[in-house]
Amino acid sequence: MSRKIQSMFNNIAADYDKMNRVMTFGMDSHWRRYVIKEAGLFDEAILLDLATGTGDIIFEALRHNKVRATGLDFSESMLEIARERDITHKAVWIKADALDLPFENDSFDALTSGYLMRNVDSIEKAFSEQYRVLKKEGRVVCLDTTPPVKNLLRPFINIYLKRIIPLIGKVLTKNPSAYAYLIESTVNFKNTGELKEIMIQCGFKEIKIQKFMFGTMAVHSAVK
Ligand SMILES: C[S@@+](CC[C@H](N)C(=O)[O-])C[C@H]1O[C@@H](n2cnc3c(N)ncnc32)[C@H](O)[C@@H]1O
Repeated sequence: MSRKIQSMFNNIAADYDKMNRVMTFGMDSHWRRYVIKEAGLFDEAILLDLATGTGDIIFEALRHNKVRATGLDFSESMLEIARERDITHKAVWIKADALDLPFENDSFDALTSGYLMRNVDSIEKAFSEQYRVLKKEGRVVCLDTTPPVKNLLRPFINIYLKRIIPLIGKVLTKNPSAYAYLIESTVNFKNTGELKEIMIQCGFKEIKIQKFMFGTMAVHSAVK
């Protein structure tokens, strides 16, 4: 488990939701809706949301479906906010490492994650764990940033990523260095083709990719 990443998320928890809305112009809720749609949830489906943070993906799932939802994260401060938001106690919140899931094989109908893979030491290990705990024919959906591709928009996107977001981080939060990390990890992250390849190696099939926000966000969905 990366202690540095864990402590960074503990430090930014209080500002996290506000920064998300501002950085994405409020579009992040649209991507999370798409994640839940791709998860193919049915009544009583058992859902695990990894790196759940303050629980946005879980709350989106609970809005539409009678699911049995578990949110998992290794940051206690993020989970504290998720638990406070869950006023009707509809979800289970667990502190654990996404690279070492405390669940039996074949436990979940669907598994989602938002901005996990960019932060883990081993993407292969993370997807293998996800494959292990998913039931056969279960669906995995992964939302993350993706490096901007070379096109006419790229210079503008780079200005936004490298200049504007750190500035917003400085003005709105007490922890601007975390937002510098966010940009660095976005630019250096695997592209969609590379991520797809790793998913295939880990056993997933029927991989579908959807990009958002001028190609800087990607959702990979697949089946076990
Ligand atoms: C950028 S936040 C995303 C939160 C939420 N999924 C969302 O869409 O807003 C990333 C979260 O991943 C968690 N995280 C990173 N690496 C993790 C790991 N190895 N195990 C569990 N949680 C992890 C962090 O604690 C943080 O809450």
